[in-house]
Amino acid sequence: MNDRPIGVFDSGLGGLTVLQALADLLPDEHLIYLGDTARYPYGPRSREELQRFSAEIADLLLAQGVKMIVIACNSATAAALELLRETTDVPVIGVVEPGVRAAQRVTSTGHVGVIGTQITADSKIYEHTAEHLRTGLELTTLACPGFVELVEDGETTGPRADEVIGTRLVELADHDIDVLVLGCTHYPLLARTIKDHVGRGVTLVSSADETAFEVRDILERTGWMREPAGIPGTRTFFTTGDPARFRELGERFLGFPLTDVRAHHWPASPAPAADL
Ligand code: DGL
Repeated sequence: MNDRPIGVFDSGLGGLTVLQALADLLPDEHLIYLGDTARYPYGPRSREELQRFSAEIADLLLAQGVKMIVIACNSATAAALELLRETTDVPVIGVVEPGVRAAQRVTSTGHVGVIGTQITADSKIYEHTAEHLRTGLELTTLACPGFVELVEDGETTGPRADEVIGTRLVELADHDIDVLVLGCTHYPLLARTIKDHVGRGVTLVSSADETAFEVRDILERTGWMREPAGIPGTRTFFTTGDPARFRELGERFLGFPLTDVRAHHWPASPAPAADL
């Protein structure tokens, strides 16, 4: 038994899709979430930057006493999963392997599309993971710049979403996929518009549920489930952006109240030394 919280992080609101699955499957667990809104989007950033950001967030979560860290962000998983596993002494879970397993479970043809941020697509983490797990899947990966901004701007449907999503997803038209992995945790919040453009015969898959099952497996294996069961866990949210906006959009998207949203401010980077 272990009463400490589970830490979850993302560049902003997207990881709430994973937190929701965790809250549903493990209602007794305390959850602490950090959305790094001030530094989103992560997708166009370098691997080194995301490693630094992820290490800073892990330190913050560890200072809150977390017993496990869920990287609810594909971009940070691609850049920093291995690093955090090497440098922290709690289990660290990413969202890519669960996403690949979920796709493997539902595809009939083995032709699977993956959409994600630039760094996720460039890292080829989905291809490497599918190969490592010996799935035999044939993946077509597409970077989708601008999708995350739609979510953070609260425009998940409407003319701008149609334009940005439609223009990009037309690239998948000739690939004959039967499953599309939403390889960015923001994208389930765009699911209706994505489905409208990719075709209703394509099954959309997100990593949220599979990630939550993986967390439960680890808690069961380690005996770290919180007890006594039946007393609901607390949900604490930190954002490096504006807490009122985070709460408003988070509640709108997820349909449950975010009653405890707190601000976290990163210390300002030191100014570069002046030339003498
Ligand atoms: N939710 C993050 C992901 O899964 C979005 C990254 C971003 O901020 O671009 O990759």
